[in-house]
This record gives sequence, structure tokens and C-alpha cells, in this order.
Amino acid sequence: MKSKTFYAAMLAAGLLSFSACDQSTKQQSTKMTDSTTVGQLPVASGFEKTIDGKATKLYVLKNSKGTQAAITNYGGRLVSMLVPDKKGTLVDVVAGPGSVSDYEDAKGNYYGALIGRYGNRIGKAKFTLEGKEYKLPANDHDNTLHGGKEGFDVKVWDAKQIDDHTLELSYVSADGEQGFPGTLKTTVTYKLTDDNAIEIAYNATTDKATVVNLTNHAYFNLNGCGAGSILKHTLQLDADGFTPVDKTLIPTGKIATVQGTPFDFRKAATIGSRINEGDEQLKSGQGYDHNFVLNKHTLQTPIATVQGDVSGIVMEIFTEEPGIQFYSGNFMKGDFKFKGDKKDDNRTAFALETQHYPDSPNKPEFPSTELKPGQTYKTTTIYKFSAK
Ligand code: BGC
Repeated sequence: MKSKTFYAAMLAAGLLSFSACDQSTKQQSTKMTDSTTVGQLPVASGFEKTIDGKATKLYVLKNSKGTQAAITNYGGRLVSMLVPDKKGTLVDVVAGPGSVSDYEDAKGNYYGALIGRYGNRIGKAKFTLEGKEYKLPANDHDNTLHGGKEGFDVKVWDAKQIDDHTLELSYVSADGEQGFPGTLKTTVTYKLTDDNAIEIAYNATTDKATVVNLTNHAYFNLNGCGAGSILKHTLQLDADGFTPVDKTLIPTGKIATVQGTPFDFRKAATIGSRINEGDEQLKSGQGYDHNFVLNKHTLQTPIATVQGDVSGIVMEIFTEEPGIQFYSGNFMKGDFKFKGDKKDDNRTAFALETQHYPDSPNKPEFPSTELKPGQTYKTTTIYKFSAK
């Protein structure tokens, strides 16, 4: 372990803009105060492993406000985000495991991961593009979920530190990988800004026509990782419509109004207030697991606002994507380890995944997810934190 003096010297030399083995990441203690889980970053050594011949690590980003984010290049996962609650105490609002091995065990839940090449579902594990049918591995009923059996979430990304608050991750997906056409060169940049936001900028190019839908699958508990149910969090979503699904969660192709349904979050409501209503769509998802059609999708105004009932922490989401999957952690079963000796108990975290709509490659009526040679896929999503 490096000494504080060493770090002071590094800082003085202007060298410590970023560190994968920062002193603060060396402790793993989580204590409870007023039911908010007070967080510290997980132990960096738990992220040091070799997978497919490549080294994995934990990278720490910092801003001038004392906010920190930790990311591993194993699946490009957002591991932790330490933000101040209403009392100024730092809380880790990212729910998920605390080591690479624990992430590998919980593979099917995609904790914190970058998802590609196609986030969410492609029906019947196939699609046709420019007259040619492409078959994909089915990993969710007969469908392909989150890029297939070996998606971007289990790849070791090349990591490049730009400065103390910016991490650039790159991954080249070979032509034919998981059935998708074209070599896809992907770069995702995580940036922690001074207004306590984590900005995720996605960029990709291809050498053959393909489909792309990248997202991040962070799970959040705004009272802190492992701080119990998220059902009392309030959620506000700027969406007049959503895409109803069949029993295997493939959109029917229709856009339904949220008006008069438990999907109406245009006015803030707690996540749990209507989740157990006998609504057919909620039965299909065993809770919320649906794509909302956003009214606006620019980086100027938030499209989602969530607040933790205990911590007062508010998360606002800004995105350039036309949709967002709201997943209320229905399939979390307490089988896997979370940071701070916690488990992934049912509905103790939620995900809000910005995206193009599920199954767009088979739904010409939805906004297109095609990417052609010469074009650049470029999209940004921001998760911004404050407290009140
Ligand atoms: C999906 C859920 C799935 C979860 C974890 C979400 O994006 O919509 O159905 O269980 O990811 O895999």
C-alpha cells in the first residue's frame, strides 16, 4: 500500500490525476446510519485479474467536490459512485458487487456494465438487414438479451486515463461476433464533472452495415448500496408513452399511452405505489421492465428524476436516446454478493437504461438502430446527483 506522503509527492508533481490503486480504495467498510448505507470505494486489488489474457483493474475518478466514481475495465462497469446525501455524508449509490470475481458470478444481471452490441432484446434471436438474415445466440427465452451470451459486459476493455476525471474505454467487436455483422470499433468515455454528474459518451463505427444500441446497466439504490428496498424511492419520467410487451418482454410494436396506467410517472410517484396492481403489463415484467418513449431527448433537460427516501439524494438523467428501460430489479434474488457484505436482494436496486427501443431491428416502425460504414454512432447520457 502506498503511503500518504507518496501521494502528496505525486500530487505536488502533478502526476496524480487518476489512480487505479488509490489509498481510499483500500478499505472496504460499510456502516449504517439512519438506514442510509455510507459508502467507501471497494478494494482495488479485488479488481486485479487476468481475463482472456487481459488485465482488469479498478479506476477511480474524482472531482473538486469530493465526489468519486469507480469503474472497472471488466465489462466497462460503473462500480461505485460516492455522492453526498442531504447531510453531506458520502453514499455509494451504485448497487453491485465489489470484485471482478463477484461480477463474473452475477454475469446474468449485468451489474453496472456497458451493454453491447445491442442493449435490450432482439426477438427470436434474429434480424434481417439489407436483405440478409443474421442469427444470434438466444439467451433469454428464444430471444437475444443485451448482446447475446458473451456481450460487451464480459469483455475486458482497453482503458486509457485522460485525466483525474476522465476514463476512455475501447473495445473492438469482430465481424460476426455474437452473430452481428461488421467490425464495430467502440469507445466509451466516462467523465465525472464538477457538478456531480457522470457523463457517458458512446462512439462507434463499423465496416459493414450493422445494428447498434449501446447502454449502461448501472443499478442504483439512492439510499446506498444494500440499504434495502427501492420501492419508496420517488420517480418522475418525462414519457407520455411506453412500448407494451409480450410475455417474453418483446415489444408488440405499439406505443401505448401511460395515461391512466401504473406507467404514468409524469408526476413523481413512488416506485412501489402501483407495482403490485393487477396490470397485465406489470405481470409480464413481474414489475416494471419496460421501455418508456421519452418526450424529449436532448442533454438540456432531465428526462428522469429519482429521489432516495432516506438519503434525499436526487439523480437526474439526461440523454440523447429516444427511450429508457425502467427495470425495478424484479429478477434480483439475493443469490449474489454486493459490496459491503450485502446481497442482491429482490428490488433493492433499479436500473434506468437509456436506449433505442427493444427489438428495433425487427420493428421498422421504431427509430432505426442501423449503422453503416462511414457513419458514426454517437450518443451521450448523463446521471447527475444532488441532495435535498
Ligand atoms: C432487462 C431485464 C433483465 C435485466 C438483467 C434488464 O435490462 O430488461 O429483463 O432481467 O436487464 O438482465
